[in-house]
This record gives sequence, C-alpha cells and structure tokens, in this order.
Amino acid sequence: MAGKDRGPERGPIRESLRLLLPLLAAIALVVVAVGVVTTRTTRAWFESELHSRAVLAASSARQGVLSAYASGDSRQLTFLLDDIVHDDQVVAAALCRIDGTLVTRTPLFPGDGEFCDRSRISVANWRGTRTGTQSGVITPLDGGVPSHVSVTTFISALTVPVRLVLLQDFEPAIRRETLVQRWAMLVFGMLAVASSLLTVLSSRLTRGGLMRRLTVALRGESKWWHDGDAPLIDDVRALAQRSTAAAVEADRDGRWTRSRLRSVLNEHVREESLVILANREPYIHDSVPGGDVIVRHPASGLVTALEPVMRACSGVWIAHGSGTADRQSADANGRLLVPPGEESYRLRRVWMTDAEEQGYYYGFANEGLWPVCHQTYARPVFRRSDWDHYRTINERFADTVLQETTLDDPIVLVQDYHFALAPRMIRDRLPRATIITFWHIPWPNAERFSICPWREEIVDGLLGSSIVGFHTQAHCNHFLETVDSALEARIDRTDNAIIRQGGRTMVRPYPISVEWPLRWTEAVPDAAACRRQVFEELELRDDTILAVGVDRLDYTKGIEERIEAVERLLERRPTLIGRFVFVQLAAPSRSEIPQYRQLRDAVEASVERINGRFGTEGYSPVVFLRAHHEPERVFRFYRAADMCYVSSLHDGMNLVSKEFVAARDDERGVLVLSKFAGAAHELADALIVNPYDMEEASGAMERAAFMPPAEQAERMRAMRAVVAEHNVYRWAGRMLLDAAQLRARARRTLNLSGFPMHVSTE
Ligand code: F6P
Repeated sequence: MAGKDRGPERGPIRESLRLLLPLLAAIALVVVAVGVVTTRTTRAWFESELHSRAVLAASSARQGVLSAYASGDSRQLTFLLDDIVHDDQVVAAALCRIDGTLVTRTPLFPGDGEFCDRSRISVANWRGTRTGTQSGVITPLDGGVPSHVSVTTFISALTVPVRLVLLQDFEPAIRRETLVQRWAMLVFGMLAVASSLLTVLSSRLTRGGLMRRLTVALRGESKWWHDGDAPLIDDVRALAQRSTAAAVEADRDGRWTRSRLRSVLNEHVREESLVILANREPYIHDSVPGGDVIVRHPASGLVTALEPVMRACSGVWIAHGSGTADRQSADANGRLLVPPGEESYRLRRVWMTDAEEQGYYYGFANEGLWPVCHQTYARPVFRRSDWDHYRTINERFADTVLQETTLDDPIVLVQDYHFALAPRMIRDRLPRATIITFWHIPWPNAERFSICPWREEIVDGLLGSSIVGFHTQAHCNHFLETVDSALEARIDRTDNAIIRQGGRTMVRPYPISVEWPLRWTEAVPDAAACRRQVFEELELRDDTILAVGVDRLDYTKGIEERIEAVERLLERRPTLIGRFVFVQLAAPSRSEIPQYRQLRDAVEASVERINGRFGTEGYSPVVFLRAHHEPERVFRFYRAADMCYVSSLHDGMNLVSKEFVAARDDERGVLVLSKFAGAAHELADALIVNPYDMEEASGAMERAAFMPPAEQAERMRAMRAVVAEHNVYRWAGRMLLDAAQLRARARRTLNLSGFPMHVSTE
C-alpha cells in the first residue's frame, strides 16, 4: 500500500529522468567526440604552422649555408645556425652531411649526429617532400615535452647535398591545443545541457496544452487544425479509440459484458438503435395440436449469438416469420415485442410464399451457397429460378429496413449468406447507413467460389457494406482474393479494405461467441443433478461413460463420421461395450432438401448397425434423438456428459463447443473438437482431431473417457477463461466500435464539406 501511495509523487520525476538520462548520456558522448575532434584538428593546424616556419627558416638560410659550406667557413656556418635559433620557436639547429654525419650544431642540439639520420628519428607521420622539407613531431619516450623536427635537404651545383635539421619547441602548441580543447568542450557541453533542459522543459510545458487541444479536437468540440489535416486527426482519433478498446479488452475486470456493450452503444452510437437483418427469427410461434401456441427457440448458432446482443442493445430484428402461429402472434405489420415477458426489443416478421421460401432459402441459400462455402463434397445446385427468388427476398428485406427505421443513417447488422445482395440494396435506399455484414459460414477460396454463376452480383452486393466480417482471418483473405478475381476494385492490403465506385468496405475477422455468463446455465440445475436426470431418462448404468453430440442434422457436422468413430472406439477398446454411450441430439434441419433427407437416412442406418453390432438387452451404444430440443434440455445434456464431441467437417465457428464449455462450471468434462471448426483456433485445450481420421477420433474419445479429473479441470478452466473473455459482447462490441469510428469520420467529413456523404466513403 505504501508503495502505491508514493507512486503519484514519483511519477513525474521518473518520467523526467527517463527523458533526461538518455539525453545526458548522449551529451557525454557528444562532448567526448568534440574533444577528440578538436585535439586532432588543432594539432594538425599547429604542425602545419611549424612546418611552414621550418620551410621559411630553411629557405632564408639556404643560400648562406650552401656558400659557407662550399667554402668550408665553419664560423660563418655557426653564425648562420645561431641566427636561425634566434627565432623564439626554433630551439636548436644542425647541419648534416647526406651520409648522416654532423657538420655543425647549435649548443642545445641533442646528441652527436643521431638527428642527422632521418631514419633514426622516431616520427610517426612525416609531412612534406623528401627533396624539400620534411617535418614531424617526436615525443620523448619518458613522456617529456614533444619537439617538432624538420629536415631540409639543400641541393646545389656548388657542393654535395647537405641537410639542415631544426628542432622547434612544441610545448606552446600543446598549451594552445589544451586550451582550445577545454573551451570547445565547455561551450559544447553548456550548449548541450542547455538544449536538453530546454527540451525537457518545453515538452512538459507544451504537452499539457497540446493534449488539451488534441482532446478537444478529438471530441469534435473545436476545429484548430486545417481542413487538410482532418485525415490526420481521424487517424489519431482512430488510434486512440483502438488503444482504448485494446486497453479495455486487456483489463480482465473490464471484460465485455451486457452492460458494457450497452454503454458502448450509448457512448459511441448514441441514441440510435440497431437494425438486425437475419433470416432466422429468435422466437418461433408454433401451433400445437389442441389449438395452443408454443414459443420455440430455434437450433441456431446465429440466434444463440445475436439474441443476447439484441437484449443488451434494443432495436429491431427483421426475420422470416417461419412459425405456424407467427402471423397470429404479431400485429398487422408483423411486429411484436420480445423476448416474451421481457420485451426488450422488437421483432419484425417478413412473410414469404412457399415458392419464395423454396427458391430463396432451400434453393439458392442452402443448395447453392451453403455447399459452395463448406468443403464437404456436397455438390452445389444453382437454379435461375432460385436466384430470382433470392433477389426478390433480399429486396423485400431491404425495403423492410426502410420501414423499421426513422433514421437516415441507422446501423444495420446484416447476417449471413441469406442476404448477400441486401447490403447494396440498403445502401441504395439509405446512402448514409452504416452496414455491417457478418458472414456466419466459411468463405471459400476464389477458385471454389467462382463456380457460383452470380458471383459478381454476390460480391458487389456485399460491397454495399461498410464492414464485412468473418470468423477468421483466413476467410477474410479468401474474400479479398475473390473480390480481386471477380470485380474491378482496388484492394488496400494494409488496411484490409476494398475501394470500389467511391465506396470503401473494411474486411475484418470477428470471431463469434456466446454470452457470458450464459443464461441457460442459470436455468438448469448443477452438474450432479443434470447427470441424475439424464441417466434416469435414458436408463443408463451408473458407471456409464456418457458422450454427447449436439447439432442440426446437417451434412457439414460430420454426424455419420462421429458415429463411425464410436464404432471404432468400441472395436479398439471392447471393455467399453456396455459402459460407453453416445447420445446425439439432432435437430431436424432443411428437410426439404434431398441431401438432408439422405443424411437422416444414412445416420439412422449407421445407428441401427452399430447398436445391432454392440448393443445388448437394455444397452444401446448410440442414442439418436432426432427432434427439436429446447436449450434447457440441451444444457442438461452438456452438464451430464463426460465428453462432448464436435466433429464438423467444416464450420465457420461452431458454438456448440463454446456452449459446452460455458455449461461446465464444475470444470469437468472433455471437449473433443474438429480441427475444421473455427473454434479450434481458440479452444486449444480441447482434444483437437481430424474427424475424417477414425483412428485419431476414436483415440481422442478413448483418452477423454479415461482422462483424470485434474487434467479435465485444468483444460476446462483454460477453455472457460477463453470463452469468458472472448464472449459475444466482445464480438458485437468490436464491430460497433469499428462502426462508430466510421460514423464519426463520416460526420466530420460532413461538417467540413457541408455535403452529405456515403458513410463508408473517404
Ligand atoms: O451456420 C450457418 C447458419 O445460418 C447459422 O448461422 C445458423 O446457426 C444455422 O446456419 C441455422 O440454419 P437455419 O437457419 O437454416 O436453420
């Protein structure tokens, strides 16, 4: 605590030191460097000056010396040398023969001729020419005062060549050199200290003001920049918002929650409410025999994810009214408030004829786009009539958006492959809308998608969106690649955006998830009670190892492969026969489509075969429950089970895996998960398998069956932490924050130019 209290006082000092210490280190380096450079430069100047003096002295004495030497006048020679050393800098002089012997010298000239031999003088760098004057500095070995020595060769026709050797005092040069060096270091040092202090001071003084002005500008309360700088301000604002979002996510206590999502919406999107466009409605009203109407929660990952978002954010959900009692449960316009009894948002039902549903939903969406987007070897079927219905229904939903909003710039969340054309149609009707389209299934590579006869229209339709979202970056990359090959568009690879016809569409990964805490976990009893109930219902032995699978009956889910893996498990581990039970909860789905009916038949045949092979009186290794199961029932099974096997052959995300993890607050149970589900990227503590590989899949189930409780708990804890953190509020929150940025930018553009602009246009 004490440390914490001192924190705020030490902050500014630490901050200044952080700035100052590197500055001082840099100054020290600069001062040392200046010292070295000054020493070298001044020394070179002085040596050059002494060299010039030597040249001058020698040339003045040359004539006299040569004639005195030629005439053998030693007195005259002595006189001439004495004359030279009268110069206060030249301390000694000597005349030498070319063979290195001494002719004569002044009294202070050292030695007996060793200085006559140039090769015996220890000078590191001679300057000048060998035939003229050469000079350098000699430093005595004892470290005494250095001297400057020069050797000038006199060549004449009168006599043999002789050398004049001069020694000059170098001490004054050293003194001047030291003085210059000190001053230079002092001046540079003072300048450096002064400038660094000024830097620190000005940064402290200006930061407050700059930050204040920047804050005001970022809030959009004042405009102190030039119009041309607006993009820069936008970028700063975007950066600030992104860092805020990241900081929020990084803070465990700041985990995304329902109320947090709500406040993001209030803060960034203000009073505007959301409009969701999704084919599947969250509440289906069905008539049951006897005339009653029941409300069903559809088996849909999309609904699982979006419903909590709508509860948090309010607004309107536009969906196909598919229940047999839907019309009678809504008003004349197909509107009603939901959830029943809670009424926190509006459901707007859109009606369609059987033929339209057949063409748009069963036909183009589920016989065409669904198999194209999933790698499951189901042959896509594309019919012109289905396409026409698909377009008509997309138009109808786009029109309904217009009916359900009073704003000219609503935020519209378009969901899934049922509405690939709607974004462009909404954009045409509401140019300023922020349209976020989320594609809940995989996006295939460009080559595979090219088999769709209307791929250009599909891609163009999606590019009416401000943002297109996928579960994974790989799907985003496939989409960019598809756009590139299908249309004329500019792709901004740095920002993962597509620029086309003046519009800009961002492409982003937003991995979808479930709410946390998941409300159904609160609606069912604890794990022990669920296990008792399920065991009682299925009449299972107490020592049964229970595995569950929960899916729509869809060929992408790998249900046949799963049952085959159970067969392989019982083959490789016969002691499990009688003890191992696999329960498949299978919600009927799209049963108008022949492939789905064939799948149902194939699965039923497999179940029958395996139960015939391994079953006994009172024991069936596979229990196939083909029916709609309400979420409470599904969650009972999740809690009762020892393991859950998700064997998708290809899946955008797969929320069953996340629901299972959310259900297991007892930290027990093992998740066996297909590597082809998007969830495998996040739930690394599941047993990840290739569902096509029977050895691997059955091996993983065997391992799960005997996994020690401590390992189960460790894995489950890790997965629960991931799902808790990466929950659906985060999924929606991140999309809305990105949308808020686009909207703020569009508003500023509007303010600056005075012209209305397309919200996704730069
Ligand atoms: O996986 C795609 C998807 O649309 C999901 O978003 C949804 O959970 C599921 O299919 C349900 O499909 P349908 O609405 O056709 O029953």
